[in-house]
Amino acid sequence: MAEAARRLKNPDTQRLDSTEAAQCYSPGLEGIPAARSKISYLDGQKGLLAYRGIRIEALAQRSTFIETVYLLIFGDLPDRPALEKFNADLVAHRQIKFRITDLMKCLPEGGHPMDALQAAVAALGMFYPAKNVKDREIQYSSVVRLVAKLPTIVAAYARMRRGDNPIPPQDDLDHAANFLYMLTGKAPDPLVAKVLDVCLILHAEHTMNASTFSGLVTASTLADAYTVASSAIGTLMGPLHGGANEEVLLMLREIGAPGNARAYLESQLATGAKIMGLGHREYKVKDPRAVILQSLAKELFARYGKSPLYEVAEAVEREALTRLAPKGVYPNVDFYSGIVYQKMGIEPDFFTPVFAIARVAGWLAHWVEQIQDNHIFRPTEIYEGVHDREYRPIEQRSS
Ligand SMILES: CC(C)(COP(=O)(O)OP(=O)(O)OC[C@H]1O[C@@H](n2cnc3c(N)ncnc32)[C@H](O)[C@@H]1OP(=O)(O)O)[C@@H](O)C(=O)NCCC(=O)NCCS
Repeated sequence: MAEAARRLKNPDTQRLDSTEAAQCYSPGLEGIPAARSKISYLDGQKGLLAYRGIRIEALAQRSTFIETVYLLIFGDLPDRPALEKFNADLVAHRQIKFRITDLMKCLPEGGHPMDALQAAVAALGMFYPAKNVKDREIQYSSVVRLVAKLPTIVAAYARMRRGDNPIPPQDDLDHAANFLYMLTGKAPDPLVAKVLDVCLILHAEHTMNASTFSGLVTASTLADAYTVASSAIGTLMGPLHGGANEEVLLMLREIGAPGNARAYLESQLATGAKIMGLGHREYKVKDPRAVILQSLAKELFARYGKSPLYEVAEAVEREALTRLAPKGVYPNVDFYSGIVYQKMGIEPDFFTPVFAIARVAGWLAHWVEQIQDNHIFRPTEIYEGVHDREYRPIEQRSS
């Protein structure tokens, strides 16, 4: 499509005329490449996802979130000294300034935590001016601060919203364990911390998704990393993207029992509504991350007992198979993640902030890649309005 657009361009004006532009138009930019990237690869027919060439299954089994962040940002797995330095830098930057907590204290406790996260991340940029985005040191410190501080912001808001004081980070706990500690005040069961760490790996990056694209557009203006991350957080929030994990849990609660799944699906599909947690622009088979999340859910159930909603989810998946599989609609990453988070004691409206804690790695990897060879995003549009309209003074307009 991009090649077609290039061929159609008028050599004098370097622009497409309106008929030619219309031929290139693809709603939602479906199938149109927005970047050349070396960060992740997805094959939606085979259900394959790899970060920097390494399959997600191998990372989930053998890596840690912090090592995966390093891999995404710097392109390769770190050796031990590099990992230790990166980890030490992250631990040193976990704290947030009291003014950031004060800012969040002023926000309504009934508001959505994603809005609080977006506001806090945008405000971070005021404390750490980082305008020279091409400077490697600035890039490194922005990455470290954002990856380190997002969990602290999310945990602080979760506690303040229910009237508790934020808990400062604990240096000897790893990234996921420290987040759970800051939420609850207790060092978590290592199994729970490990499962959350794997969830963070699974959510860290996913090619040119909506929030990454949104961050990339912002990055292309040479805005700083905090602005890039806050743009991306806003985009992640919607129910068609990261917000779906919260919606899935609400849907499963509404269905209530496995026996109600068929009737629920039929009534929803009859109205043309989408079933949350199913379908994906790229995957036409079951999302490989959903498969791993299901096995993580089972690990938690073996220790803590089964979640009744899991059986409801399995029933929805079974019923959807006959109705939606012919369209290539299967469970995506958000279908089982909420059940896992709920078992860990995370509240539903914090599911998407947990997604953001992970996906910030991917956003920043794309930010670094974009500004190495930047070209501002400025697509065109197909004008369908009227031309040459007269301005009528207000006295001559009828209501
Ligand atoms: C993710 C999503 C936005 C992808 O959308 P898309 O690539 O534009 O795909 P479309 O909406 O064109 O769907 C293609 C077909 O599958 C159907 N479909 C896709 N997802 C569906 C869902 N969740 N429930 C029911 N039908 C669905 C569409 O109705 C459409 O059918 P049609 O061809 O008969 O009109 C879409 O699948 C969706 O809204 N899913 C639910 C929200 C969600 O879980 N989001 C998280 C994604 S990780």
